[in-house]
Amino acid sequence: MVEDKDLNLLKVEKVYEPKEECKKTAHFQDYETLYKSSLQNREAFWDKIAKELCWFKPWEKVLEWNYPYAKWFVGGKTNICYNCLDRNLERGLRNKVAIIYVNEDEEEKKLTYGELNELVGRFASALKSLGIKKGDRVVLYMPNTPEAAIAMLACARIGAIHSVVFAGFSTEALRMRIEDAKPKAVITATYTKRRGKKIDLLSTAREAIKGLDYVEHLIVWDRDKNQTLREGEKEFYNLIKENKEISPAEEMDAEDPLFILYTSGTTGKPKGVLHTTGGYMVGTYITTKWDFNLQDDDIYWCTADVGWITGHSYIVYGPLLNGATTLMYEGAPNYPDPGIWWRIVEKYRVNIFYTAPTAIRLFMRYGEEYPKKYDLSSLRVLGSVGEPINPEAWEWYYRVIGGQKCPIVDTWWQTETGMHLILTWPHMKAKPGYAGKPFFTVEVDVVDKNGNPVPPNHVGYLVIKNPWPAMLRTVWGNPERYEKYWNIIPGYYCPEDLASKDEEGYIMILGRADDVLNVAGHRIGTAEVESALVAHPDVAEAAVIGKPDEIKGQRIKAFVVLRVGVQPSQELTESIKQTVRKTLGPIAVPDEIEYVEKLPKTRSGKIMRRLLRAKELGLQVGDLSTLED
Ligand code: WT7
Repeated sequence: MVEDKDLNLLKVEKVYEPKEECKKTAHFQDYETLYKSSLQNREAFWDKIAKELCWFKPWEKVLEWNYPYAKWFVGGKTNICYNCLDRNLERGLRNKVAIIYVNEDEEEKKLTYGELNELVGRFASALKSLGIKKGDRVVLYMPNTPEAAIAMLACARIGAIHSVVFAGFSTEALRMRIEDAKPKAVITATYTKRRGKKIDLLSTAREAIKGLDYVEHLIVWDRDKNQTLREGEKEFYNLIKENKEISPAEEMDAEDPLFILYTSGTTGKPKGVLHTTGGYMVGTYITTKWDFNLQDDDIYWCTADVGWITGHSYIVYGPLLNGATTLMYEGAPNYPDPGIWWRIVEKYRVNIFYTAPTAIRLFMRYGEEYPKKYDLSSLRVLGSVGEPINPEAWEWYYRVIGGQKCPIVDTWWQTETGMHLILTWPHMKAKPGYAGKPFFTVEVDVVDKNGNPVPPNHVGYLVIKNPWPAMLRTVWGNPERYEKYWNIIPGYYCPEDLASKDEEGYIMILGRADDVLNVAGHRIGTAEVESALVAHPDVAEAAVIGKPDEIKGQRIKAFVVLRVGVQPSQELTESIKQTVRKTLGPIAVPDEIEYVEKLPKTRSGKIMRRLLRAKELGLQVGDLSTLED
């Protein structure tokens, strides 16, 4: 845990006043006034916003709150895919570009709203022809390309629940998620391309579904048209060719499930966060529009991957609900050279650019000359997400990328929250180091373990005091785990982040309070890595901690106890890393492995990671009364 005294080191006095231009493009005027009035009547606030979208049947009640279970837009019927496509065609956006796809070779593909509608509608018909119905699950293991968005939207169109698994996850991680979601179909591609190399997805998907009878279909996007498909496998574009009809959008209840997205927690098993239709739609729609001052002709680029929540909410659903042009990039940020992203900004005249601090820190290391080579003058708003943006990275982003004219919109949220909850709007005073203030109608605070507010500038747990539309509704197949979010500090939703609040109500996020790491903006459970480590035949026990890393935020260090008689060696280290790579995927491989005789444990047998961390980082070890030995 971060101590109060450490806060002084983090506290930054610098304040950036908002620019006049940002006020002009804003969709609301004074934050404080609107925030206060939104608290007075939360339901009226959301009622008004939801009415901007299309509903087949209006809701009877905005919110039904049965702690800790919420229903939003009760009785309302709609379809999020209809709102992303049909509604925009009706508004005359048929020929507007919906998705621009670019890759490392700077190959591009553009899809208009009209074209996207046709592809999605026909693919939706294809899914139906395969017997996939409302409520069935479909797992996607796809590259960050329009085909992933097409598959997501087609599922949403017919009411199938999609579950996207990041294409960087390995066979076992994919299989674990498939076994939990029990999909009728899995959709994949032959490969994804990164750093000039093709990464095989098809073999991984085939391996992951071996022997699972409930997976009736494997749909494969054969990118080079050179694969021999096996029995039970169908080709993505062939399906579109064979199905000429645009499937109508299924009437969905506001509370019908939309998707499951797995995220890491404190146990070895990831949680299937469930989002539903109406609230998620309204929440992502308005936050994309308001939080980035989105304008009609904007080219909007979020550099995330569809495999994460940021890709769901802010590459696909939020931008398309707004009829915006969203750019999707497949590849690494620094390949073939560290100028690739800035070339794309220049070439497509990107206006809104949304990325993670880890990427900014990577570019800082390469130096200013790369971005300086390109014309970045089209940029108007810069966003940040995934972890706290340290003031140095903030200043660099502001000065070098934004040319001191673009506001930096830091956005705090989670897989579970579905939408931004704390942020610094473009036309709000920015304090580098602070995420900002709560979204309208949402009250947040920083409290101690008993739920009592801590004084300003002290460290505590961040809590959200009331429900919001895009909140998770449950954890798939595990309602107790859902209830836990609301039971850690009874009465409130606890995201398990440490935070502090200043006198003006600005929230500083200090990192996770639980055994979850944030490596390059990716959430990784220490328990997941530990169980991958012990899957190695020579490993008896393992403990994993996060160490500060200049670029990735945190790096993974593993302490490993070997089985009796096994000697440490360089080869063994490599082989252990390989096991983690195979079990979880490259993002979870420890940077460091240290062999130890035994691990510190509590009397009840729990590994004291806190103690390992403290020793590793030379911090005070704190209370040791529960240590076994
Ligand atoms: C955790 C959620 C939300 C999309 C990406 C990650 C950390 C996220 C910020 C931010 C400080 C942040 C928190 C949070 N986090 N955004 N702007 N400032 N911390 O989603 O994988 O569900 O992880 O990421 O620790 O709890 P996720």
